[in-house]
Amino acid sequence: MYSYAIIGFGALGRSHAFYLDKMSKKRGDIYLKAICGTTAEEFSKSISLNLGSVNTADIDIKNCSFYDDYKELIEKEKPDIIISAMPTFLHKEVAVFALNNGCHVFSEKPMAITPEACENMMNAAEKNNRRLMIGQCLRFDAAYAKLKEYIDKETWGKPYRAEFARYSKMPRWTVNNWILDPAQSGGCILDMHVHDVDLINWFFGVPDRLDSVVTHAKCELESVFTRYYYDDGLFVTANADWSLTDTYPFKSHCMVNFEKAVAEILNGALTVYTEDEAIAVKLPETSYFEKEMESFINWVADGIECDEISAKSVYNTMKIAFEEINFAKAKEQQV
Ligand SMILES: NC(=O)c1ccc[n+]([C@@H]2O[C@H](COP(=O)([O-])OP(=O)(O)OC[C@H]3O[C@@H](n4cnc5c(N)ncnc54)[C@H](O)[C@@H]3O)[C@@H](O)[C@H]2O)c1
Repeated sequence: MYSYAIIGFGALGRSHAFYLDKMSKKRGDIYLKAICGTTAEEFSKSISLNLGSVNTADIDIKNCSFYDDYKELIEKEKPDIIISAMPTFLHKEVAVFALNNGCHVFSEKPMAITPEACENMMNAAEKNNRRLMIGQCLRFDAAYAKLKEYIDKETWGKPYRAEFARYSKMPRWTVNNWILDPAQSGGCILDMHVHDVDLINWFFGVPDRLDSVVTHAKCELESVFTRYYYDDGLFVTANADWSLTDTYPFKSHCMVNFEKAVAEILNGALTVYTEDEAIAVKLPETSYFEKEMESFINWVADGIECDEISAKSVYNTMKIAFEEINFAKAKEQQV
């Protein structure tokens, strides 16, 4: 049996609790031992996410204790697995403490707020021989996984151009508004744009060169535009903005131009446009948060590794994102 504890019980903590409970009922060899960040009374509030709603009301809490100090939880309960969904600036300290105390750790994206913090997390995992997975959840999305397959198998020829975009109203939904402070969240680049940076890294690898521009009209680091250059001629751009008005709906867009077709993911739906036809690609409807949790538990409990879950791969994503921030800041200082 593997026990798990959830640290940070906001939007993502609740979502992970929901899918883990579903898995626990299916597998029978994992169980919820403790939660840090809520009380038994507040526990059952439901929460809506972008991709449907999860309800924590039916989660089995018969073996669960509640804490408000994650160190006390880890020391007293000694769970096998920690799911950390804390505000970003706390990712490193929770993960390192948990790994040093012998836990396997799933930690939400973005990995951490500085390159050194990311390295500390990876070193702690290696030193303690524990699993560390970072929640770059879009790698588990069926549409992006299909696109990755097209790229790897050259189904439509080689890609020569790609563009990514992600737009949101101003995020004011986190506890105490920590997300709007770049010192705590990394701003739009580390919080939202990092999803596209991770896809770019996963699809095409680390670019040979990049240049980046950011804006700060409504809040610091609210938008970014980056060009990524690859020595083989591939050219990629990505655009993200979270300073939009409250009525603006969340939107994401990804387009890869191959020699023989254009593949586009618009708000989650994948279409392939050849010279002759537009093909709406049918895909399974499982939530990527569910697939992500399944992959982590399969890795820890069953030793099933998969390409998506290496923290080292996500570390390259973070290096690209930090380079974007550094490039944009250096450019601003020149002006
Ligand atoms: N994978 C995704 O698509 C996705 C989506 C949203 C958020 N996230 C990530 O998940 C993380 C959490 O985001 P969120 O939206 O759930 O934020 P949130 O503000 O809703 O939740 C954070 C929780 O941590 C708790 N917390 C803060 N400090 C604490 C402490 N010292 N001890 C115990 N609990 C503490 C807060 O009370 C809150 O319940 C962030 O890093 C964010 O980037 C990922």
